[in-house]
Amino acid sequence: MRIGVPKEIKNHEHRVALTPAGAVLLISAGHQVVVQSKAGADSGFSDAAYEQAGALVVPDAHQAWSQDLVVKVKEPQLSEYIFLRPELTLFTYLHLAAFPELAGELLVKKVCAIGYETVQTDAGVLPLLKPMSEVAGRVAVQMGVYFLQKENGSAFPGKGCLPAGIGGAPPMHAVIVGAGNVGMNAADAAAGLGARVTLLETNESRIRQLQRETHENITVVHFSHDGFYALLPTCDLLVGATLIPGKHAAQLLNRSDLRLMQPGSVFVDVSIDQGGISETSRATSYDDPVYVEEGVIHCCLPNLPAAVPQTSTSALTEATLPYIQTVAAHGVAGVLRDFPALARGINTLAGEIINPAVASTLAGKIQGTAEKTTSL
Ligand SMILES: NC(=O)c1ccc[n+]([C@@H]2O[C@H](COP(=O)([O-])OP(=O)(O)OC[C@H]3O[C@@H](n4cnc5c(N)ncnc54)[C@H](O)[C@@H]3O)[C@@H](O)[C@H]2O)c1
Repeated sequence: MRIGVPKEIKNHEHRVALTPAGAVLLISAGHQVVVQSKAGADSGFSDAAYEQAGALVVPDAHQAWSQDLVVKVKEPQLSEYIFLRPELTLFTYLHLAAFPELAGELLVKKVCAIGYETVQTDAGVLPLLKPMSEVAGRVAVQMGVYFLQKENGSAFPGKGCLPAGIGGAPPMHAVIVGAGNVGMNAADAAAGLGARVTLLETNESRIRQLQRETHENITVVHFSHDGFYALLPTCDLLVGATLIPGKHAAQLLNRSDLRLMQPGSVFVDVSIDQGGISETSRATSYDDPVYVEEGVIHCCLPNLPAAVPQTSTSALTEATLPYIQTVAAHGVAGVLRDFPALARGINTLAGEIINPAVASTLAGKIQGTAEKTTSL
């Protein structure tokens, strides 16, 4: 199969979907790898490294996108819609629940689009979301702690507290909603800095497991709306880390609930890529990462792992490579027949949404795509 690796163009996205070591494995299996020039530069991989691996390095996006299988990191951006076409298999993070317009384009162009985040094992594990979630949970705390400082380089001074309690000063209180991959890594990172952490979760068996395993500074409790609101007045750092796979994140906070928090406290909504957990959440970018609503500093970056591309690219490609090898070796028909975990990741195929959770979330939300497509 011919595999294309375009350079990511989403704002401040520095990761790449394939390392030179991954290219070696694909090429040795008989595939052709075409990498856009500078695609790996921010992750520490030069064009020469891809050439040494046996890949063809091409100057522009069009050539990378013209291959049978295109592997990416982030969802196609508006200027990439022209590359979508019926023969294309696209393998990337899609998060279509948050991007109905993109879903419409993938349907109209009849792309086979496989979303990393919806590849799911029989046991319900999301193996391609996990590594980036682990990174995101840790970056979320680094961001949150930074913006909690009075001097934080933004127009919005934080409360001015340090994570660890020093002398008589109490430690920061971090409240984390969702105790999955993001939530647990955020909890570990915050507790490691000396913070007091309250982790809220809905899944009973997960709560019992974590109550046996976690750090002494971390309290795991069952999520209830009243219990959550009761924590807000003492919460310095709030992290949104829930997920219902393929669905829009449940909205757990209204604008008025935020008034329970103290001015200058920080809310990092990691779930923003699924729409966010608050009425006040809207995606930000690394150009302008924070804004304030009701006195609370909001940081809603949909690509937190992009801040640490050397770590993120290694972690991501280690997880995705076996699945890329499977698509390349067996094609979409083979995946549908023999690889159920990967088949669950197929969001759109031949003009239909075939992932049930994505289909139910997007029902009635995809309109006007035909007009947009003809104008491109
Ligand atoms: N912004 C970013 O850069 C970035 C990066 C990676 C992941 N994410 C997002 O972070 C979110 C979490 O990902 P994850 O890998 O940790 O998922 P996960 O499935 O491992 O964990 C989510 C947890 O949330 C729990 N949950 C669901 N609804 C809840 C509720 N109402 N209250 C409390 N807990 C609830 C689930 O039971 C589960 O344990 C997802 O939306 C994911 O897309 C964002």
